[in-house]
Amino acid sequence: MSSESNSRVPIVSGNWKMNHNHFDAIQFVQKLSYLLTKDDYNNVEITIHPPFTDIRSVQTLIDVDEVRIGLGAQHCHWEEKGAFTGEVSASFLTKLNVRYVICGHSERRELFGQTDEDVNRLIVSIVKAGMTPILCVGETLTERETGRTTAKVMGQVSAALQGRTPEQVSQMVIAYEPIWAIGTGRTATAGDAQAVVGAIRSQILESFGERAAMNIRLQYGGSVKASNIAEIMSQPDIDGVLVGGASLDPAEFARIIQFRLR
Ligand code: PGA
Repeated sequence: MSSESNSRVPIVSGNWKMNHNHFDAIQFVQKLSYLLTKDDYNNVEITIHPPFTDIRSVQTLIDVDEVRIGLGAQHCHWEEKGAFTGEVSASFLTKLNVRYVICGHSERRELFGQTDEDVNRLIVSIVKAGMTPILCVGETLTERETGRTTAKVMGQVSAALQGRTPEQVSQMVIAYEPIWAIGTGRTATAGDAQAVVGAIRSQILESFGERAAMNIRLQYGGSVKASNIAEIMSQPDIDGVLVGGASLDPAEFARIIQFRLR
């Protein structure tokens, strides 16, 4: 959009979903940090989002070995504490140095009934706890085929961000993840992904002003791998990727982080 857009640091995030126990997680971080160079850390912000049960182990390893990987979670609850069996609050995560929380992932929306209103509350609690939300939005295949992609995605973005200040929005990350591309091996073409991500940035510009639009980082997610990363990252409004399946293998994830070398 302008020269200022070049100042956005690329962000590559690994969403492990319900994979890797805490033993696997330790091995993963050790292998990944062995594969990455100082240059990689200087050029790309890296976050990993292990299951809750792994977080303490990963935190300890990252702290002790001074690994420059941002610790993320996949979910939390918007309440501080109370009778919410099975849930974890945002402030519990900050105590473990978690800095990013994925919210509104299509799997949470579709499998666990998360609504736009829930996602809005979640963002409030994540920001209040001092962490960065990674907000996921995206359309189903039917919505795409019936020309409703923009309406769906823009609706999710505006519902999720309602009540946020431009300053808060400028620090956030939004991941555009077409649902039909998640875990299917099908990727949106880089041009299609750019079109939607560009529209999200324009929407942020309209609702929250230029500073927020220039600073917010926008990711693409959905079957990202080492073989398609370079094309995805070459799009002007795509500042990073949210990676599922391909983030489980340290070698493949390292190749994705090293997209600038491809
Ligand atoms: P995938 O998952 O890379 O396996 O398609 C992406 C995601 O769900 O975040």
